Amino acid sequence: MIVNTELEQKGNQFPSAINSFVKEKDKFLITTENDVLLQITVVRDSVLRFRYAPNGSFPKDFSYAISEDAVRGYNHLEYSEEKDRYIIKTSKLQLHLNKANLQKTIYDIDGKLINQDEAGFHWEYSYEHGSDIVKMSKAEQKMECYYGLGDKPMHFNLKGKRVENWVTDQYAFGKDQDPLYKAIPFYIGLHSDISYGIFFDNTFRTFFDFGDERRSVMSYWAQGGEMNYYFIYGPEMNQVVTNYTDLTGKPELPPLWALGYHQSKWSYYPESNVREIAQKFRDLKIPCDAIYLDIDYMDEFRCFTWNKEYFPDPKGMVDDLTEQGFQTVAIIDPGIKIDKDYDIYREALEKDYFCKRADGPLMRGKVWPGECNFPDFTNPEVRAWWSGLYKELIEDIGVKGVWNDMNEPAVMEVPTKTFPLDVRHNYDGNPCSHSKAHNIYGMQMAKATYEGVKQFVYPKRPFIITRAAYAGTQRYSSSWTGDNVASWEHLWIANQQVQRMAISGMSFIGTDIGGFAEQPTGELFVRWIQLGIFHPFCRTHSSGDHGDQEPWAFDENVTNIVRKFIELRYKMLPYLYTAFYQYVEEGTPMVQPLVLFDQKDHQTYYRTDEFMFGKQILVCPILEPNSKGRRMYIPRGKWYNYWTHDVVQGGKEVWVDADIDSIPLFVKEGAIIPKYPVQQYVGEKEIEEVELEVYYKEGKEKSVLYEDANDGYDYKKGRFSYRTFKLTGHKNQLIIQQHKEGSYVTPYTKFKLDLKRLPFEIKTIEVDNQETSLSKLKVNGNTSLEVDKNFTELHLIGK
Ligand code: GLC
Repeated sequence: MIVNTELEQKGNQFPSAINSFVKEKDKFLITTENDVLLQITVVRDSVLRFRYAPNGSFPKDFSYAISEDAVRGYNHLEYSEEKDRYIIKTSKLQLHLNKANLQKTIYDIDGKLINQDEAGFHWEYSYEHGSDIVKMSKAEQKMECYYGLGDKPMHFNLKGKRVENWVTDQYAFGKDQDPLYKAIPFYIGLHSDISYGIFFDNTFRTFFDFGDERRSVMSYWAQGGEMNYYFIYGPEMNQVVTNYTDLTGKPELPPLWALGYHQSKWSYYPESNVREIAQKFRDLKIPCDAIYLDIDYMDEFRCFTWNKEYFPDPKGMVDDLTEQGFQTVAIIDPGIKIDKDYDIYREALEKDYFCKRADGPLMRGKVWPGECNFPDFTNPEVRAWWSGLYKELIEDIGVKGVWNDMNEPAVMEVPTKTFPLDVRHNYDGNPCSHSKAHNIYGMQMAKATYEGVKQFVYPKRPFIITRAAYAGTQRYSSSWTGDNVASWEHLWIANQQVQRMAISGMSFIGTDIGGFAEQPTGELFVRWIQLGIFHPFCRTHSSGDHGDQEPWAFDENVTNIVRKFIELRYKMLPYLYTAFYQYVEEGTPMVQPLVLFDQKDHQTYYRTDEFMFGKQILVCPILEPNSKGRRMYIPRGKWYNYWTHDVVQGGKEVWVDADIDSIPLFVKEGAIIPKYPVQQYVGEKEIEEVELEVYYKEGKEKSVLYEDANDGYDYKKGRFSYRTFKLTGHKNQLIIQQHKEGSYVTPYTKFKLDLKRLPFEIKTIEVDNQETSLSKLKVNGNTSLEVDKNFTELHLIGK
């Protein structure tokens, strides 16, 4: 039977008619006359998994992406047979399966079309790859838009584009360049106000085509492996992302210092230079929590060694830095220098831990140390060994975080920039070639690092940052977007990449602020800092070839503006930490593109620049030189300009002033934003008072505040403090109700409420039904009020 002549002529094969349909618990097994096997698993009411085998049998089921903790189970499942189709129904979805050709159509429970196969599953034998290229094609729905897919440096809406997932070291990449450092084969579709996602859990080189090759057809395929994908229904885009994140795993909370400002360069050395940089931050009173040691701290780039000439006493230095409130983060790359006098090399060699070519010799390639061999991180025994290597660095020397780089794996001076495809991998007991293991190599290195650091830094929390990633890497590590460039275009790219990564399950992400390659002007650096403080991971890093990139490297005006914005980050730490908690608990992205924030507003579909930082703050970076402001889109609803407190009605584009010392910033009406006092580093001060900025609204809005000991695991035993504030505003009344959960006792005793644009003059204050004196009230421009942190209801009544 010919399903699609065009595809058939190109050598594709298709399933024929269904000849058996069997239900086994949560699975359906369907076979066709030409021996195609389809397995449908009902993972949740809104999540279906599809596996296809062209030749009637599946290989062992194994995935690095899917989390063991993923929620499984459904409320309702039924199926029926009609003349031409089978129908599977959950409480959220209905799947129609065409008996003649195995094509699928998915509807919501009310019969609204969500997603439909075009040719559906098909495949083509590839002589070159020695396997089938497994393919899926879908009909593009009217006005359908596409989002997601990790770190693609292109327009936020992927409609009309084709992208490739192959983890690649892409120094000084350009706009639209593809592929880059991450492979996250997950996209989100949106049409008719309905959103769904597809996660193609295949680690081979994969491609996604959003109407580029054939108009009105969306397709994806892999150069090997299985057609194995998850269909995730929303209808809200946020539900798609939270469900995807649940499936591929959520991280644990990082230590709070990891959300502070970090300073890095390739490289700070010798020791005196590191100390100088640290001291300068304190002298200039620019908050900073971490300082990075790039490859030059090592002895000829041998991992887990120190250059004793530059760093004669690593522990002494790290201790002193800790004393000054700096955490030290050190880089570790995968390449192990071929050197018989290097104990780690000898040990890995003796224990047979290195990757090998198909015919037996060790995989050998050039990286920073020169010729190297590479541990096979897909072997659990190798990972355990690698974890153990961190003992000295973390437990003895006191380094607090580890930076994994070059783990694509990158190889220098070869055209493919990586291993040859014949290299063998253990793949957790499923031996395979590099074609299959390439995209998860870096992820497995990050996993081994995470497990080691976690063990040796205990009872504190680990902090890992990785460059390469596959879907699910968020369980182990934060990440940055690799070797960008100090250009205005890259500032735009930075914004796209962070938003895209956040909706691809990896919220703990940032860019090299100021650009890695080349030198930013002071103005560009300022604009990048203004964006970077709203990214979950906030680090300045540069190649160091073109001059310095510390906050004081430009002029005094730059230093002052940079200080102002880093201070703002520190004030907003409780808000950011709360967003992290929501990410950990619910899978909610910490940065939200406008289309996710309000998908019913079609104006948001092609927006790129504006985004939500957490759930209540709207940010729009200035992306051009010599700007005094910019036009931007304000989403529906009412918003307060953060700087002027003027209220704007959204749903339209407006001009916003933002001279060099400002960035367009808005707060959602009704929000209560918690703020800490400025600290030079997390834990410098005991927090005595938390400020709550209250943005009056006539109506209701809910805000939350999560806090704990900022490190350690007590929070898992319930020692956290989770406050919910419900604001209800009337013409001359404002009510704030507080509900508290968790047993952590915060060190502060009171809140200072900063009431923005209260439309009435306060006559009476009632705290928990008791009238209180007006003496706690201050009115000078703004109205502020001190209240006990444990109030349950605050009632402000106007004259
Ligand atoms: C890579 C990294 C960069 C690092 C450099 C030296 O280019 O992406 O961040 O500074 O290697 O280690």
